[in-house]
Amino acid sequence: MSWEDAWREGRTRWDAGGPAPALVEALRDEFLPSGNALVTGCGSGYDVFALAESGRSTTGLDMAPTAAKRFEQLRRERGIQPAMARVALADFFTWNPGRRFDVVWDYTFCCALPPSQRHRWGYRMSELVAPEGRLATLVFPMAPDAPRDQGPPFPLFPEDVAAALPGWTVAEERTPTTSHPGREGMERLILWRPPT
Ligand SMILES: C[S@@+](CC[C@H](N)C(=O)[O-])C[C@H]1O[C@@H](n2cnc3c(N)ncnc32)[C@H](O)[C@@H]1O
Repeated sequence: MSWEDAWREGRTRWDAGGPAPALVEALRDEFLPSGNALVTGCGSGYDVFALAESGRSTTGLDMAPTAAKRFEQLRRERGIQPAMARVALADFFTWNPGRRFDVVWDYTFCCALPPSQRHRWGYRMSELVAPEGRLATLVFPMAPDAPRDQGPPFPLFPEDVAAALPGWTVAEERTPTTSHPGREGMERLILWRPPT
């Protein structure tokens, strides 16, 4: 089943109906850098809206037209201006935004890709994050007992992300104190610095 099929048929059990609590905490604590932001695989856009409301002009990227429609509907309902929150309907692997981003937020996107695609994910991140920018990965689901090859979501650990990002270094990391219900203890927030 394609992502668009899942969206059209309402098979979106990943959709928690609001921003990642770890993102809300990170914004409150000024843990994330300022500047323009990108949310990969943004779905309905809750994380985009949270970043936009923190003052960051933010782009959400998703390849599913139904997700993009839902994003636009929610953006309008929230009264957020397109200058602050917009959705790009495109494939992460081929999209050319014509710019780089100060912050890229990745949650429930890397883990949605088959593990064999992670090196491509990492390569794309090196094209999307500005030289002085940061990639923020909310690593999830850290599920040690789950089969590694079954998903989405595919189990994901910090060492998997590090392996996909050769040359990148950890600028900061923390364990969130709050998560969506059922995801507690399975998340780690890491800020990655691109290679120089
Ligand atoms: C597991 S969902 C997570 C959505 C959202 N981040 C959330 O937590 O509610 C993954 C999203 O990534 C999108 N997606 C999957 N592969 C993609 C690709 N190659 N390029 C752009 N979006 C993609 C899907 O359409 C889907 O909306």
